[in-house]
Amino acid sequence: MADQRLEGIVLAAGKGTRMKSDLPKGLHRVLGVPMVELAARNLMAAGVERPTIVVGHGGDLVIQTLGDRFQYAWQREQLGTGHAAMSAESVLGGHQGPVLVVPGDAPLIDPEFLKRLAQIQRETGAACAMATCVMEDPYGYGRILKDEAGRPMGIVEEKDASPEQKKLKEVCVSVYCFHAPTLFRLLKTLRNDNAQGEYYLTDMVGAIYRDGGTTVCVPVDDVEMLMGVNDRWQLAQAAKVLRTRLLRRHALAGVTILDPDSTHITLDVEIGADTVIHPNSVIEGETKIGAGCSIGPNTILRNALVRDRASVLASVVCDSEVGEGSRVGPFAHLRGGTVLGSEVRVGNYVEMKNVEFGARSSAAHLTYLGDATVGERVNIGAGTITCNYDGFAKHRTTIGEGAFVGSNSTLIAPVSIGPGAVVGAGSVIRHDVPADALGIARAEQIVREGWAARRRAQRGGNQQ
Ligand code: UD1
Ligand code: MG
Repeated sequence: MADQRLEGIVLAAGKGTRMKSDLPKGLHRVLGVPMVELAARNLMAAGVERPTIVVGHGGDLVIQTLGDRFQYAWQREQLGTGHAAMSAESVLGGHQGPVLVVPGDAPLIDPEFLKRLAQIQRETGAACAMATCVMEDPYGYGRILKDEAGRPMGIVEEKDASPEQKKLKEVCVSVYCFHAPTLFRLLKTLRNDNAQGEYYLTDMVGAIYRDGGTTVCVPVDDVEMLMGVNDRWQLAQAAKVLRTRLLRRHALAGVTILDPDSTHITLDVEIGADTVIHPNSVIEGETKIGAGCSIGPNTILRNALVRDRASVLASVVCDSEVGEGSRVGPFAHLRGGTVLGSEVRVGNYVEMKNVEFGARSSAAHLTYLGDATVGERVNIGAGTITCNYDGFAKHRTTIGEGAFVGSNSTLIAPVSIGPGAVVGAGSVIRHDVPADALGIARAEQIVREGWAARRRAQRGGNQQ
């Protein structure tokens, strides 16, 4: 029995001149994911285990960015879409089953449609099942030519089409499922004697026809999914469509999104049920949010882990973790691997970098903690600063369980405050404070009885 494994090719060697960019076209991101990766992921969702990406322009960077989840075929010179498909023979030449082919610049193609295309190719035994679309304005697309019996017999590109042919409205959208051995056999027969001097993949339809084989047209009903990206404005439009789809998916999975228009969530973010996302929230990267959380308004989460029932209000959390039931913000900034335990309170104007902050501890106001380990139930008073940097190196501050750091304290690292210890407000702490001790380092207060009254009398009158 023939090999029925499904393979897939993404054509992504083209330059993408209209992007006006140093970055290869396929690496421009839509919802945080490079466009060409989206195309490959669509193939995976349709059942292709390891898609083959044809790379050319900026190929090294594409391979480096996307990594080894995919296979790559080089097309060193861009001699057309047919030539690009031919380049994939180096990887897929031995494959005896079906192979999907999609363009690298159409990130919205529905995997369900791809599955259907593959199924139709299989069931009909056609050499090719090809997605087509009837367009009111078919300008720029390859037009499908049919014989008297209505069988597809060729495709003519806009630049090669006669005025009569230009009137045809059924077009090729560059999404195919081929019988792989037929594809690679007939690709070798293609010629480039056309207006663009290129080897056209679209000419496969004519080649199959002449070979006595069949191409089946499969109409696309949702035209939106065909949206191609050739410039930055189309990139923005595609992102908008995908964003709406993604937000809808989260909403249907139990997430309340108060204002879809101002909520930006990238593709791989996970959000638990009964979480509320307030307006102006930007949630990116490998962020995971638990259930029953409150995010925003005005919040940025990047590679953040926010556990169940936590809230993050008007704050920035990057590469950090917020424990269960904890409250962050307004105006907090957590970064650099900070891990908050459960039920903590991190309040207004607090920055933490690379801090472990124990359960039920609190830093409610105006504080910088950097490179610190803070135990459970610690109170960090307003205005506390860890001096973690001496101009040359970073040093760690350790604060034990149940310690109380008075307001406006300066902790000069490396330094340790023992469990249960108290630091007097306004102290500059340079030496370790043992467990349960008081550390206080500030000038003694002087009181001069009657001093203020004498001063007023000298100056003659009431001072305001
Ligand atoms: C192609 C089709 C056209 C169809 C249109 C819309 C051909 C000849 N024409 O035209 O019938 O209506 O798509 O989908 O196929 N690529 C390479 N190597 C190359 C050339 C292109 O990898 O040498 C890649 C591009 O990076 C791109 C994809 O193939 O991702 C499509 O190429 P593009 O130049 O956009 O084809 P169109 O002119 O749009
Ligand atoms: Mg195109």
